[in-house]
Amino acid sequence: MHRILMTGAAGGLGKLMRAPLREMAPVLRLADLADAGPAQEGEEVVTCDLADAAAVDAMVEGVDFIVHFGGMSVENTFEVILQSNIRGTYNLFEAARRQGKPRILFASSNHAIGFYEREARLDANAPLRPDSLYGVSKCFGEALASYYWDKFGVESVCVRIGSCFPEPRDRRMLATWLSPADLARMIRCIATAERVGHTVLFGASANREQWWDNSHAAYLGWTPQDSSEPYRAAIEAAHPPKPCDDPAVRYQGGGFAAAGHFED
Ligand SMILES: NC(=O)c1ccc[n+]([C@@H]2O[C@H](COP(=O)([O-])OP(=O)(O)OC[C@H]3O[C@@H](n4cnc5c(N)ncnc54)[C@H](O)[C@@H]3O)[C@@H](O)[C@H]2O)c1
Repeated sequence: MHRILMTGAAGGLGKLMRAPLREMAPVLRLADLADAGPAQEGEEVVTCDLADAAAVDAMVEGVDFIVHFGGMSVENTFEVILQSNIRGTYNLFEAARRQGKPRILFASSNHAIGFYEREARLDANAPLRPDSLYGVSKCFGEALASYYWDKFGVESVCVRIGSCFPEPRDRRMLATWLSPADLARMIRCIATAERVGHTVLFGASANREQWWDNSHAAYLGWTPQDSSEPYRAAIEAAHPPKPCDDPAVRYQGGGFAAAGHFED
């Protein structure tokens, strides 16, 4: 593997994964609409709007593996979601199809299944149940990934990321937290597996409260090593419990499931 492309390089996960990804290949291409900062040794920095098909084509040229973090990462207007997540993800898979079929890690989200209640134990075969237009756009990306594998042989792993931040921030994240180190180890497993076909993987660390079952993706050899448990006492002290019938507690998508329509 010579060149890795990471979209969304100026964002939260882009910043966290920049150093680990630099160690996985001689060249790391960093792309974003926003400023990703100056290129360090072994890096290429590209400014690219994912909604611009020609620019996405140029961004994908010559890459062997893509980590697709770019896009609107929370709920927004349909127009913003359409351009960044729906059109943007289509442009990316289409560019990959025409340019050597690099494997793609698609940053999906727990919000693709956010209307399941938190007592549910889900695996990748559970029907989609998005909790927002943002979640719907991730369902689109997962369907696109499935189609591009079945019809064109573009390999992908759709990672339904829980909450990836340096530390969990609230009670919900005690269940959904994915440590940056576990994410970096996951990316390495995905990049180096002999074959991934089309796989859906849930991204959470080895937390005490587990909502998701990754046993069908055991072939990847990814075993999360971190846990939110050391943060529990401080989080419980700082965030009083909400009533158990509050939609933000009841549903896996938390506040996304509880929120009204963004444009109302
Ligand atoms: N951080 C998490 O816990 C989490 C959880 C679930 C899913 N995800 C997904 O992982 C990815 C990265 O998340 P993040 O937390 O780093 O989000 P972020 O918002 O911090 O970063 C997203 C980046 O994408 C860029 N972007 C947005 N629209 C673009 C466009 N049209 N063209 C080019 N670049 C564009 C933004 O400039 C930004 O730098 C997102 O796709 C998000 O939906 C993240």
